[in-house]
Amino acid sequence: MKTAAVAEHYGSAGIAERVLAALREAKGPDAPVTPDALAPFDHFHGRGVVATQEIAAQLALQPGERVLDIGSGIGGPARWFAATYGVHVTGVDLTPEFCAAAETLNAATGLGDRVTIRNGSALALPVPDGAFDAAYSQNVIMNIADKKQFYREAFRALRPGGRLALSNLCAGPAGEPYFPAPWATTRETSFLASPDEMRADLIAAGFEIAEFRDITEAMREVQRRTRERLDKGDMPKVAVDIIMGERAREMQRNSIRTIEDGRGIAIEALVRKPG
Ligand SMILES: C[S@@+](CC[C@H](N)C(=O)[O-])C[C@H]1O[C@@H](n2cnc3c(N)ncnc32)[C@H](O)[C@@H]1O
Repeated sequence: MKTAAVAEHYGSAGIAERVLAALREAKGPDAPVTPDALAPFDHFHGRGVVATQEIAAQLALQPGERVLDIGSGIGGPARWFAATYGVHVTGVDLTPEFCAAAETLNAATGLGDRVTIRNGSALALPVPDGAFDAAYSQNVIMNIADKKQFYREAFRALRPGGRLALSNLCAGPAGEPYFPAPWATTRETSFLASPDEMRADLIAAGFEIAEFRDITEAMREVQRRTRERLDKGDMPKVAVDIIMGERAREMQRNSIRTIEDGRGIAIEALVRKPG
């Protein structure tokens, strides 16, 4: 089953412990465990907390809002949103080891009452209809074969007028991505749609598109600097290293080549459920 292969790609034992050890290594044994301090180690997507800040700017969250994180990983963005904006975040993720790590890190940051984690699928979200004011999904859609169902479920979970921010790697014109990639060991669990297909699927689910930006150039610039540091051997440990272990550096290099060679287009979108 594809979903089992997705969880197998991501999951491993002891992730929260490795994240906390990386924090102590970087900031000292008594470093406070806060969402900001953890950010280099628990936002598992290209450009780290900067990308999360862009999602935040798009969503314009208000204190007390109910927010859904679809494919919440080890919960870094969810904790960061809860602490920064005073919102309550529900994170849903397929990978059991990620959900366990998220729970441990929620407790370590004292955010256990403001971040709820559910182990489940984006294709059958374990949440009621219309329960959320806002939702976001960062670098998850690449693992989803049935994208129409993904968008339908996000639509169902939002209240009328609710907004959804997405960051996604779409298919580029020059062929398939290089593997292993950070999101998939092989093509078996990688499903990149073109930007036009992404737009069409969103509209078919009922969303109105407020923003649809190609941010590939910004990605290229960051990745160029990452590659320089990888080549020099002075790249600090970040989330992908801690979570994916020895495979991480090869995955990072493949991700850089994928963007560079026109095999991936990075998209940020903001869409709304009509009110
Ligand atoms: C690259 S990680 C990003 C994690 C998180 N969004 C972040 O930015 O830190 C992709 C995540 O999507 C999750 N995922 C993939 N397919 C999923 C599905 N069908 N339902 C729920 N989560 C899924 C994986 O378990 C993984 O945590």
